[in-house]
Amino acid sequence: MAGKIISGKEIAESIRGEIKTKVDELKGKGITPGLAVVLVGEDPASQVYVRAKGKACDKLGIYSDTIKLPAETSEEELLKLIEKLNADEKIHGILVQLPLPKHIDEDKVLMAINPDKDVDGFHPVNVGRMLVGAEGFLPCTPHGVQELLIRSGNDPEGKHVVGVGRSNIVGKPVAGILMQKKPGANATVTIAHSRTKNLTELTKTADIIVAAIGKPEFIKADMVKEGVVVIDVGVNQVGTTPEGKRILKGDVDFEAVKEKASAITPVPGGVGPMTITMLMRNTVKAAQRTL
Ligand code: GUN
Repeated sequence: MAGKIISGKEIAESIRGEIKTKVDELKGKGITPGLAVVLVGEDPASQVYVRAKGKACDKLGIYSDTIKLPAETSEEELLKLIEKLNADEKIHGILVQLPLPKHIDEDKVLMAINPDKDVDGFHPVNVGRMLVGAEGFLPCTPHGVQELLIRSGNDPEGKHVVGVGRSNIVGKPVAGILMQKKPGANATVTIAHSRTKNLTELTKTADIIVAAIGKPEFIKADMVKEGVVVIDVGVNQVGTTPEGKRILKGDVDFEAVKEKASAITPVPGGVGPMTITMLMRNTVKAAQRTL
């Protein structure tokens, strides 16, 4: 796709067209892909994400069940629910929205999900499969980052990718995916984080920057080289409009960095729509596996 601003919205739309075809094929064979989304508590951002996931399912003809539980739900109750969903034949994918309330052990919950239904790709079995380059579910946001790069004509092959942020959801798996000896990967990856010394020296050597640190407008123009490709994973709420809408900023100082970048994703409309699209793709893949 031509143009400096990488439209995640447009790329996601075209991938959703491909997914819809697969959903229709599966339905022709008597299988409706099904996704269970579990939300514990009332975190406002999580509520927005969960709603968006349900809507995306509806549009593609994927069955979805959103299960909302009160913040006081015990770990035991949540584990019981996951057991039930693991055994439910209508459900091919299970997603537990993070973060969970503090009294619940996140690792324990993620490990309770059947790896064959783990469409988030967070179960250690799928993390391991990703790292060794075996078949499994790739986590949605980093996989979306890879698709954005490929489909915008910025194949990471041979490039120096600097990821800023080392979370299990984005930074670590970005490295795991883009370093693979595979088409659309083959990058040289460096992961930087809050303790990295001389961060600017490092980011200036990047051909591609993946910003996922969770700090609004952290990446400034003087931290990047001319012609860099920038993927901004950050979603930081910096305020609210008088109408009550969330004001979002990415991790990149978009206006200034775009003057130096050869390509850059906006927030919103960049990585966000891709994350949900990759979730839909994983759900369909999970359903296909039951054929
Ligand atoms: N919270 C923030 N991002 C994600 C995600 O990709 N999946 C889940 N389950 N929770 C999240």
